Amino acid sequence: MGASETPEWARLNREHWDEKVPVHVASEFYDLAPLRAGEGRLYPVEEAELPHIAPEGWQGKRVLHLQCHFGADTLVLAQRGAEVVGLDFSMPAVKQARALADELGLADRSRFVCADLYDARHALPQPESFDVVYTTWGTIGWLPDIAEWARIIAWFLKPGGRMYFADGHPAAFVFDDPRPGAPTADLDGGPARFPTARFSYFEAQPLDLDEGADYADPDAELANSRTVEWMHPLGQTLTALIDAGLSIDFVHEHDAVPWQMFSVLEPRGDGLWGWPATPWLPLGVSLGATRREH
Ligand SMILES: C[S@@+](CC[C@H](N)C(=O)[O-])C[C@H]1O[C@@H](n2cnc3c(N)ncnc32)[C@H](O)[C@@H]1O
Repeated sequence: MGASETPEWARLNREHWDEKVPVHVASEFYDLAPLRAGEGRLYPVEEAELPHIAPEGWQGKRVLHLQCHFGADTLVLAQRGAEVVGLDFSMPAVKQARALADELGLADRSRFVCADLYDARHALPQPESFDVVYTTWGTIGWLPDIAEWARIIAWFLKPGGRMYFADGHPAAFVFDDPRPGAPTADLDGGPARFPTARFSYFEAQPLDLDEGADYADPDAELANSRTVEWMHPLGQTLTALIDAGLSIDFVHEHDAVPWQMFSVLEPRGDGLWGWPATPWLPLGVSLGATRREH
């Protein structure tokens, strides 16, 4: 995608993410202390599941991290011995990732590339060159074409290579916090501001949103607040991966996610936010898949 033909959704979303980078780097949400101490950690969801993706460990594994943001998770995998390539369309994010890699002494096994996901084949022109494609928490909602996303993943994976995905559950994205004045719902433990339906699960049109709040810093008010996002039903995502040449190894639904998706959620003390009592809806979903042999 050349600059002259950048569609409006990509421009709006990139300006939004460019502005978020310094906010996130300065936030407590992205706590870089463990990474700086040489002991970077991922969320409990990934820590529990990644042994299935790399059973022999990360040493020497070639990992492509799509939509890597400013590289914190990418560099956790590098710290464990992987050779990582992070790709993101935000230049401030990529510059920050490179600076972090230098600071951590991981520049020799990490590379950060600035490109739109849909230009990834041009930005990194080596097909079948990765053992693992990794992409987590806040990724496909920014992408219009899930079939092409899946084909790009398949294109980069060696036959037998694995992909790992974790994100908000599409059923949870139907909901949002109730508008001011909306009635409360009775949950276990009393009335609470239970999320109300906002979007159709099957919405195929882009969602034009205008929200200045930021999940990592409740005090931040973003100037570049307009974004364009997409709903992706779970069946479509799974089928896109199968059609692209991957076999699904597992699909796990989770009752907790790494950010306060709804105001009623409570911190669990392990970095995840969950329901106050009964887990009403799946909040997150994760999957592992393997690129089929030719
Ligand atoms: C929520 S973040 C990814 C989360 C990551 N797990 C983290 O917290 O570090 C989403 C990332 O997707 C990137 N992004 C959004 N749309 C993109 C696109 N079309 N191509 C490449 N990167 C994109 C943004 O720049 C942002 O860094």
